[in-house]
Amino acid sequence: MSTPHNSAEKGDIAKTVLMPGDPLRAKFIAENYLDSPVCYNEVRNMYGYTGTYKGVPVSVQGSGMGPASIGIYSWELFNIYDVDNVIRVGTAGAVADHVQLRDVVIAMSASTNSAYASQYGLPGTYAPTASWELLRAAADAAAAKGAPYHVGNVFTSDTFYDDANSLAAWQKMNVLAIEMEAAALYMNASRAGKNALAILTISDCPLKGLSTTAEERQTTFRDMMEIALDTAVAVSNK
Ligand code: HPA
Repeated sequence: MSTPHNSAEKGDIAKTVLMPGDPLRAKFIAENYLDSPVCYNEVRNMYGYTGTYKGVPVSVQGSGMGPASIGIYSWELFNIYDVDNVIRVGTAGAVADHVQLRDVVIAMSASTNSAYASQYGLPGTYAPTASWELLRAAADAAAAKGAPYHVGNVFTSDTFYDDANSLAAWQKMNVLAIEMEAAALYMNASRAGKNALAILTISDCPLKGLSTTAEERQTTFRDMMEIALDTAVAVSNK
């Protein structure tokens, strides 16, 4: 059964899905890393592909930007397409002083200014958290690669252009990085009883006015992708 946003049929999508924000990155990953990739979605150009990596079925699909967009696509993966694991692969801005350009950040938790949790009617503040199984596998894969990585809390913002300039306040709480999707993804996974993780590479340091070049982003993107793909293989062997 297709959805208004995804033309895949049940069974077209693997149990583990890698989700970059940019659908063209999904195409790049499918064409450069997966064996026998088949495109299952072109609705709104939010490309989705399924293939295999080291013999394991893996899908890769764009999420778009922000809690609202990843909220739609990941909800459908978990609840319509029986996906068990969604691994976001994306970029983030450094917030903590010790986090450098090109580092990998694995999001153990995702603080947020988004109202996404209000739909659950909870009598308190929800703490969006990664799946331990995916987190452990990703940290092991990052350590094995020897790439500089950090594990901790990130900040999922509703806004990229932020009038309130709130980053210094999040920095005081030792938040590692700012991005725009992890919290909504983690909430959808928890609500569905499924697994999610965000693996991020630092593309800029907004507090220091630094950013990477397009070429640097491509290289660091490869480290992150390989960590995510090795994580997919590790959890499929359980
Ligand atoms: N803000 C929000 N999201 C981001 C940033 C940022 O500075 N960099 C990469 N994703």
